[in-house]
Amino acid sequence: MCSPTRTTIRGSRGNAMKTQIMPADERALRYAGELIAAGEVVAFHTETVYGLGADAANDEAVKKVFALKGRPADNPLIVHVHPDYDISQLVETPAYTQILRERFLPGPLTMVYPSKGRVSPYVSCGLDTLSLRVPSSPVAQAFLRAVDRPIAAPSANRSKHVSPVTAQHVADDFSGEIPLILDGGASRGGIESTVLDCTGSVPQILRAGLVTREMIAAAVGDCGVYRAVRGEKPKSPGMAYKHYAPSCRTAFFARGEEDAARRCYGSEEGRGGTPYLLCDHAAAQRFAGLRVLDLGDSPEEMAAKLYALLREGERRATLLIAVEPHLTGGVMDGVRNRFMRAFGRET
Ligand code: TXA
Ligand code: MG
Repeated sequence: MCSPTRTTIRGSRGNAMKTQIMPADERALRYAGELIAAGEVVAFHTETVYGLGADAANDEAVKKVFALKGRPADNPLIVHVHPDYDISQLVETPAYTQILRERFLPGPLTMVYPSKGRVSPYVSCGLDTLSLRVPSSPVAQAFLRAVDRPIAAPSANRSKHVSPVTAQHVADDFSGEIPLILDGGASRGGIESTVLDCTGSVPQILRAGLVTREMIAAAVGDCGVYRAVRGEKPKSPGMAYKHYAPSCRTAFFARGEEDAARRCYGSEEGRGGTPYLLCDHAAAQRFAGLRVLDLGDSPEEMAAKLYALLREGERRATLLIAVEPHLTGGVMDGVRNRFMRAFGRET
């Protein structure tokens, strides 16, 4: 059915500050270090999406991140450290987590550990756990080494909006509100890290990503997938919120509903609108001649393109019409999760 929905993104709160986009050279890294030490927020490239970083030990700096994003106060942040940081200062490390760190870090895997309570309580929103991530991006690592302290960083988008995969996307959401964006080009992973609960005897995926359930199970023998139970407080609070939503009107069609999607496109055009279709490459070929944002063929390609195309869609389309991709399993678990939620669908 063609029933467009509209999402409104909160506007900027005035342009008091000049936002500089800089490559991570010596001067920029020194400046980033000064900003973080002064309790400011710095956006930085990672291999998944850009992050909005603050000193994890500084209550006021962490609160600033929540305020800038408009993030609900019960949605905890991930703490980022460089590969040589001794994480035993911050968390308890169950034995099997050593194998996961050796196998997957640095990289797009966030691990949730029992916390030792050494960072600001605002980071984990009062939970007794702490999530840690060691990014592989050279820009992120240079930044984390320059500041040499744990950095709390959510994705650098306004809450509920599409995550940023370029420095310009960050500027589109926060220009005038943050002093610095450390530019590392496009984030090649394209979707946020896998979030893995490592507080129990078997690890459990809280958010799917590029490190898949299959890969984790192969490394440590078993891996669960958390499913939220209606009415119960979710283990990963972020998954309870609508997310990744483009700011234009949207419509969604399941696999096998391409004819209905085509009719929806036609009726939007008939009204004088500019519809765009967002779909995988096989569907894009069947929509030849129409305006199409083509996600590509492979799960990795779709992950890398999804957020940039959602942002392009919201800029150009009066109505963005999603057609559910066909592939499932592995990396597609993460891609499908983001795709469905961007269009208000549960996964
Ligand atoms: O790839 C990524 O993970 C990016 C880059 C910047 O590192 N960060 C990111 O952060 O996606 P954010 O804040 O957008 O998403 C963090 C997710 C949320 O769903 C949050 O609820 C969950 O991780 N999370 C963080 N700490 C947690 C904890 N202690 N227990 C359970 N879930 C946690
Ligand atoms: Mg986010």
